[in-house]
Amino acid sequence: MSEKHKILIADDEPFVREALEALLFSEGYDLVFAENGQEALEKAAELTPDLILLDVMMPDMDGFKVCRHLRANQHLAEVPIIIVTALDDRDSRLEGIEAGADDFITKPFDRHELRLRIRTITRLNRYRNLLEERIEKENLENRLSQAQKMEAIGTLAAGIAHDFNNILFPILCYTEISIDSLPEESDIRGNLEEVVIATERAKKLVDQILTFSRQDKLQKIPLEIRFVVKEAVKLMLSSVPPSVTVSEFIDKNCGTVLADPTQIHQVVMNLCTNAWHAMSDKGGELKVGLTAENENMKLTVSDTGEGIDKATLERIFDPYFTTKKVGGGTGMGLSVVHGIIESHNGKITVDSTVGKGTVFSVYLPLITSESAVSETISGEILSGGSERILLVDDDEQINIMLQKTLENYGYHVTAHKSSPEALHVFDSGPENFDLVVTNHSMPYMTGIRLSEEIMKIRSGIPIILCTGFGDSDIKEKAEKMGIDNFLMKPVPNKQLLNTIRKVLDEADSC
Ligand SMILES: Nc1ncnc2c1ncn2[C@@H]1O[C@H](COP(=O)(O)OP(=O)(O)OP(=O)(O)O)[C@@H](O)[C@H]1O
Ligand SMILES: [Mg+2]
Repeated sequence: MSEKHKILIADDEPFVREALEALLFSEGYDLVFAENGQEALEKAAELTPDLILLDVMMPDMDGFKVCRHLRANQHLAEVPIIIVTALDDRDSRLEGIEAGADDFITKPFDRHELRLRIRTITRLNRYRNLLEERIEKENLENRLSQAQKMEAIGTLAAGIAHDFNNILFPILCYTEISIDSLPEESDIRGNLEEVVIATERAKKLVDQILTFSRQDKLQKIPLEIRFVVKEAVKLMLSSVPPSVTVSEFIDKNCGTVLADPTQIHQVVMNLCTNAWHAMSDKGGELKVGLTAENENMKLTVSDTGEGIDKATLERIFDPYFTTKKVGGGTGMGLSVVHGIIESHNGKITVDSTVGKGTVFSVYLPLITSESAVSETISGEILSGGSERILLVDDDEQINIMLQKTLENYGYHVTAHKSSPEALHVFDSGPENFDLVVTNHSMPYMTGIRLSEEIMKIRSGIPIILCTGFGDSDIKEKAEKMGIDNFLMKPVPNKQLLNTIRKVLDEADSC
């Protein structure tokens, strides 16, 4: 025997215990004794023996009952039990086996037989343990190699996606330029427009793959998700057909979670897009809800669309699974959503009825202000967002630094060093921005002048003007023009983020 087996002997008769001790001690077993049922249970729980020899007729609790208790205990359920008893009738044997005993020996026992049976049962038990250990080890190895494989695929996918993006960019640009240079009535326009649509689809796929492989590089910040949700819903509205009505139910006090704004934006977009796709034939209602529920923030996206049948439901989170026609969907939407939610320690559930509609619910753990304190250096919760900001500063380094900060907090930033250039960009797509943040003293065109021009193009656009120490009269001038958001340079990050959030929220509630 490689190691000593521990045997628990439970019998109320001292002479039986002594006889068994005399027999088994010389075999090299480690012996423990119990004088009644209760004691047998306690010792078994304390010592987890390799085998239990159990008498049936004991005063306080009979052996069958002890046996049932042992089998009900998850740690002891597998310990081999041999019932050693004077009861030799068929019913007692059956009861013993039903109670979970592995073997049955009648008293007076044949010493040689008992020895052999104990040996057999302990040997079988040892094999079972070895097998379990091996299975466990193999499972672990499989999981490890699976994780390594996924990591390698992720790296490869990220590399390809990145290069692919660079290839797509000139295709898209040159096709758009070509469309613009063709006469309205040209037949070739239609073809090129198809190229643009296909390229945009490819770009979307690349984005999804990048998200997938970027899971480990999350930029999690304490985030009031409602801003991101509102923004995503707003963005989605432009593509929803008129037969679909969209409503949002957002609880202002739904709290803060630790999350990556860009990824949460993507979750909302993917869920909402699926929802309106499911209603594109007949129209219907799309509802987005955000509430706090126990320790979680609960985001729901519900539709009154076609619903999902049981077989499909099992596969919706699989990468590349789609029921949409070729070219219609990549099938990556929900697998990306799933990956994002998992990496935020959240949960996603689906409730669907065919013909009636579907509800996706996402749960993300809320952070309390104490847990947030340890997450932020300043000790204050800084909220980001996913709005689009036009950033103008002639100092390249400041530009890069501000852009990085804002992007870290989820915003989509277009940065320009030259104010005339920034004006040109704004003019060609005034609706592409939710906010302008501009420096004041710049060559060619000051921040005030730039703001003036921008307000001529789109009067309601919120503007934040950053001024230096010598610009005191500027403030007055700007206020007259209707700009009342200023930041004094150098702008601390906290103040910048708070002001941006405040200005965007005010603009949103107008
Ligand atoms: N709200 C919904 N109602 C009905 N079916 C849905 C809904 N959301 C998802 N599905 C089903 O799950 C499948 C997978 O969704 P997923 O978002 O992963 O890919 P997709 O929408 O087909 O493609 P992509 O997201 O790239 O456009 C869909 O093809 C559809 O069959
Ligand atoms: Mg989808």
